[in-house]
Amino acid sequence: MIAQGWKCSVCGHVAVGLFAPDTCPKCNAPREAFKAEHEFLFPPEETEGVIKACWKVSYGLYVVSSVAGERINGQVCNTVFQITSDPPRIAIGINHKNLTHEFIEASGAFAVSILGSDDIRTVRRFGYRSGRDFDKFKGIPVRTGRTGCPILEGAIGYLECALVKDRKLDAGTHTIFVGDVVGGALFRDDEPLTYARYHAAKDTA
Ligand SMILES: Cc1cc2nc3c(=O)[nH]c(=O)nc-3n(C[C@H](O)[C@H](O)[C@H](O)COP(=O)(O)O)c2cc1C
Repeated sequence: MIAQGWKCSVCGHVAVGLFAPDTCPKCNAPREAFKAEHEFLFPPEETEGVIKACWKVSYGLYVVSSVAGERINGQVCNTVFQITSDPPRIAIGINHKNLTHEFIEASGAFAVSILGSDDIRTVRRFGYRSGRDFDKFKGIPVRTGRTGCPILEGAIGYLECALVKDRKLDAGTHTIFVGDVVGGALFRDDEPLTYARYHAAKDTA
């Protein structure tokens, strides 16, 4: 997902989004007080076109989850792909700031729950708030995989992975983790949710 960090030059608050907020949620400074944390390498007038083209790059939507001791957490992720088939390996892109990132580093494992085509609700629940201030799994039926990672019972299937030693890449705001598949199943042979479908349906569903 293209998201830009916007730093308030008055109080230092960092807001994440496509565009700077109208006012700073911390100190009320106007939009003009925000500076982009990173300059994009294309002219500003192309921003909207670049974002809309990115939405047309095909991905699925998943809940990537992990564990740290007794605690479990998960987040929505579109950057999930099978990178090799022999052995089966999965790569994921996870923002450094996310609690899920912290848990993957702690446990060395992650699970990918594959969402069904109508499951916009799960994206809302797992994609917009951090597990640092909200227990996203509360009341959600899960099974525990062999790595200890939680798997959504409502998903259409899952893959569970153990991190491959030394196979991670710092991609700037995100880490690309590579994991060996250590378990998985298809629960229902239904259509998976795609990133494009989510963007088309999210305001009406
Ligand atoms: C449609 C959609 C796609 C997303 N894709 C990713 C992604 O590929 N990688 C990522 O790190 N965050 C992605 N996110 C953002 C995280 O799900 C979000 O920041 C989450 O609140 C992090 O939660 P955590 O701090 O509990 O781990 C996506 C969010 C949405 C709504």
